Amino acid sequence: MSKLRVAILGFGTVGQGVYRILNERQHEIEEATGYVVEVVKILVKDPTKKRPATRGVVFIDTMEAIWSDPKIDVIFEAIVGEEPARSYLSKAINKRIHVVTANKEMFAKHGEDLLQQAQLHNVQVGYEATTAGGVPIIRTITNLQPTDSIRSIRGILNGTSNYILTKMREEGVPFKAALHEAQTLGYAEADPTDDISGRDAFRKLMILSALAFGEQPNWSDVPVAGITNVMTDDVNAAAKAKLRYRHIAEIIKDEKGHIQGVVKPTLIGPDHPLYAVDGVENAIIIDTVHLGLLTLIGPGAGMYPTGSAMVGDFLHIIGKSSKVLVRQ
Ligand code: NAP
Ligand code: HSE
Repeated sequence: MSKLRVAILGFGTVGQGVYRILNERQHEIEEATGYVVEVVKILVKDPTKKRPATRGVVFIDTMEAIWSDPKIDVIFEAIVGEEPARSYLSKAINKRIHVVTANKEMFAKHGEDLLQQAQLHNVQVGYEATTAGGVPIIRTITNLQPTDSIRSIRGILNGTSNYILTKMREEGVPFKAALHEAQTLGYAEADPTDDISGRDAFRKLMILSALAFGEQPNWSDVPVAGITNVMTDDVNAAAKAKLRYRHIAEIIKDEKGHIQGVVKPTLIGPDHPLYAVDGVENAIIIDTVHLGLLTLIGPGAGMYPTGSAMVGDFLHIIGKSSKVLVRQ
């Protein structure tokens, strides 16, 4: 059986999720694709850190060992922040290596450039994991594109915020303690400020806007509020009135073609489709010309949901590339 050699950038919650799924589902992946997938190198900041066992994998802290290896077919990117992630993926694409990323901070800003670059070099870029964790929103919108037009997208795009709001309401857990739980469970960002300030949901919304509408609004025109001003008393008072706080991101293309977005906590009642979406779940409601409303709900963060989205992209790439080794 032919071999596919892959590298993973980052071995935190997401990188480990990818590694585990590739190992745990090795047999099924071989059967489905006809390839033996081998993780050969993993990039981290500190290669001396104690980590879960990874037989045969070399831990590295610079990309040189990857660039000098002519046989890496696919790179999974799960590190933090815009740089050096953008430069690494750009270089990989130029070297005709397929890439799969979970890095929304980088992709919201540089995704369009990377996709264009990839088209030029005839390689694939998978980014399902950047938005809504295990919910296949990128694939769904991509599939809808040729036959339908999207009017709006709205939903819960940050698992940490929804987890905190749920814990406050259901169990009376204070904000800080609920955030700490979300961090322990691997839902929150390395710096959780982006989760609770609304910035993370905003970036995901911009990724969806680029995909659904072919463009993003001016970032500074989109009002963004997080859940930091939602107090326990507010949540309790709302619950008494049978209302719930949800952190909702929304993007609309109006009839004149103007794109407007907003990200903010919103009070909703039992009739609202997002009322029952609790915990780390994300939910996205897409309004299209032909379908009307389509709602996707599922786990928005965490090791396996995110790892699964990345491995799903990888399998899609293998299936799509008649010749996976397209590098010269
Ligand atoms: P994490 O647990 O903090 O792990 C980050 C990993 O990346 C660590 O292994 C770290 O190395 C490595 N790293 C960070 N910066 C690096 C750099 N400049 N060079 C080399 N290695 C670097 O983060 P995570 O939760 O796995 O998230 C990874 C990415 O996926 C982020 O972009 C995040 O926004 C995105 N994401 C996360 C989730 C989630 O549920 N957690 C879901 C979707 C997307 P050390 O181990 O040596 O520190
Ligand atoms: N921190 C993010 C969240 C991870 O809580 O939604 C998934 O993108």
